Amino acid sequence: MTNRKGKEFRLKSRPIGVPAPENFLLAEVDVPEPGPGQVLVRNAYMSVDPYMRGRMIDRRSYAPPFQVGETMTGGAVGQVVAAGAGAPFGVGDHVLSMAGWREWFVSSGAEMLQKFDPIPGVGLQTYLGAFGMPGLTAYVGLTRIAELKAGERVFVSAASGAVGAVVCQIAKAKGCYVVGSAGWDEKCDYLTAELHCDRAINYKTVGDLDAAVAAAFPDGIDVYFDNVGGGHLEAAIGNMRTFGRIAACGMIEQYNATGTTAGPRNMILVVGRSLTIRGFIVSNHYDLLGDFLRDMAA
Ligand SMILES: NC(=O)c1ccc[n+]([C@@H]2O[C@H](COP(=O)([O-])OP(=O)(O)OC[C@H]3O[C@@H](n4cnc5c(N)ncnc54)[C@H](OP(=O)(O)O)[C@@H]3O)[C@@H](O)[C@H]2O)c1
Repeated sequence: MTNRKGKEFRLKSRPIGVPAPENFLLAEVDVPEPGPGQVLVRNAYMSVDPYMRGRMIDRRSYAPPFQVGETMTGGAVGQVVAAGAGAPFGVGDHVLSMAGWREWFVSSGAEMLQKFDPIPGVGLQTYLGAFGMPGLTAYVGLTRIAELKAGERVFVSAASGAVGAVVCQIAKAKGCYVVGSAGWDEKCDYLTAELHCDRAINYKTVGDLDAAVAAAFPDGIDVYFDNVGGGHLEAAIGNMRTFGRIAACGMIEQYNATGTTAGPRNMILVVGRSLTIRGFIVSNHYDLLGDFLRDMAA
């Protein structure tokens, strides 16, 4: 045992609706020394991702639920500060792991440690964002799931978020016409001014979302990247071109819902317009990691 103390977040109770500070406990723990084959990692950044909201509910899903009283886990980037004999990584190595929500951890083999060499000038936190899981999600959704082609018309919801912002930029890099939706004017300005989206829709102030999407896509949508579900999905389906594709990435509108959630009520159009709606979970597509890193680096 060192005399180091570390902080970590535990789930104190399962939230109902929007999570609140009282659902979490910040605990102080002793930091042990690494044993043979183990490393001690100091996390620099941890990621707070929407899927974690689902893990706070006690139900079967693709990711197991967090347990009340236990330290939470999630994507993190850190550096090895001590290594036991025969450890797979050395002091100073940068590692990605699933051991977030804590300052320090000693590897036990369950943290999915992955060594990486940071690219000079790329901040470590980027490996949890554009260069990490959310960026890969955008890449998989656009290239494999929606089979995006150059010059197509693309609609993106939650467009200024970690996934959406990369979706917008990949689609623009492929010469597409891109419209993003977000819930604040500042985010809409960011979409057009910094990410070079052709248009942005503030879904909170626009009133009739379906009409706004129709106005932004007079010739219809080829690809809808769905991060939100509900009303956004309905508006997209209503404006899809024949043979359009929808990458169902997330439905964040539902994550904090306590009652029945909205639509879409126009699924019948999926038939007449020969639409493809395909869901995906990024962890099933890590075979694209090499292509993703190559393309994103370029
Ligand atoms: N399939 C996969 O493998 C995979 C992997 C990663 C993420 N995802 C999904 O991708 C989506 C985006 O994730 P992210 O990492 O980009 O999240 P993020 O950076 O946290 O951004 C999420 C954004 O969603 C918007 N939002 C929240 N509630 C909303 C609502 N009721 N209606 C419309 N927009 C709402 C908010 O932006 P506004 O202020 O603009 O509303 C928020 O900033 C989520 O649905 C997530 O579950 C899926």
